[in-house]
Amino acid sequence: MTKQEVLDFLTHEFALSNLPESFQKLREISNDPHSDIQDVVAVVRKDVELAARLLKLANSSLFSRGEHTETIEQAAQKLGMRRVVESSLAIGLIKEISIDPEVFDTINFWKRSLTIAKITEDVFELIPHFLKARIEKNLLYTAGLLHDVGILAMIQGFSDEMVSVVDYAVAEDLPIYVAERNRWGFSHQDIGRILFKKWNLPESLQAAAGYHHNPVDLKRRIYAPLVDIIYVADYTYSVREEMPFRDPCKPVMYPEVWKRIGIDPTELVELEDSLVEAKSHAEMLLAS
Ligand SMILES: [Fe+2]
Repeated sequence: MTKQEVLDFLTHEFALSNLPESFQKLREISNDPHSDIQDVVAVVRKDVELAARLLKLANSSLFSRGEHTETIEQAAQKLGMRRVVESSLAIGLIKEISIDPEVFDTINFWKRSLTIAKITEDVFELIPHFLKARIEKNLLYTAGLLHDVGILAMIQGFSDEMVSVVDYAVAEDLPIYVAERNRWGFSHQDIGRILFKKWNLPESLQAAAGYHHNPVDLKRRIYAPLVDIIYVADYTYSVREEMPFRDPCKPVMYPEVWKRIGIDPTELVELEDSLVEAKSHAEMLLAS
């Protein structure tokens, strides 16, 4: 497998070569200060499957509060604009990808990504104000949701190589991105960065995809706060939970990153409740 073969796959065959249309529209709406929940409802109405899943979510035990929701408007009111947009983005992506469950546990992958997306927003709340001012808040959820999309691409296009590199990482006790670079000359981080660029996502998001395992190597320091937050969110989830593939790929602790983002790792206990809520939200979305 060469890098060119991977690039060709990303362009011509990968299920997310282009982002789903509803994802793009909802991102625009969520970035537009003049838009409101009716704009979101208008997009959701045009996507029958999305509408059905949002209704199920609104009627789930997490959100129903004992009342039955029958229309998209009611669902949107109940969930709130931010949750509708975020849930719609996630549902729109999840339905695009199908991978043989014998090969890869896609459900666990999305559960992990959805939970990290939510934790990303919570980590943001813990950092100092001067760093918050350097981050576009509305990028946080997308960054957390999609930061590992390179893994999904590699599994869909080159599953044997991915399985083999995980074996190698386990045998040599290497971080996954180091094992990938040793074997392939690039890592799932590079694949994510290339996809984000192809999708015209902002450079700060490209940096988050490209350096979430090794933020100390990022040269464009202007993007460091967002990259550091994704690293901390990924770390927080990964030290507690099973990875979407076997367990070697534990994150690396970089004390200097925690220091510069202003978070003491012991503060992570504050995220415990949020982690539980994020996981049940993710499970509801995936079950709906
Ligand atoms: Fe990763």
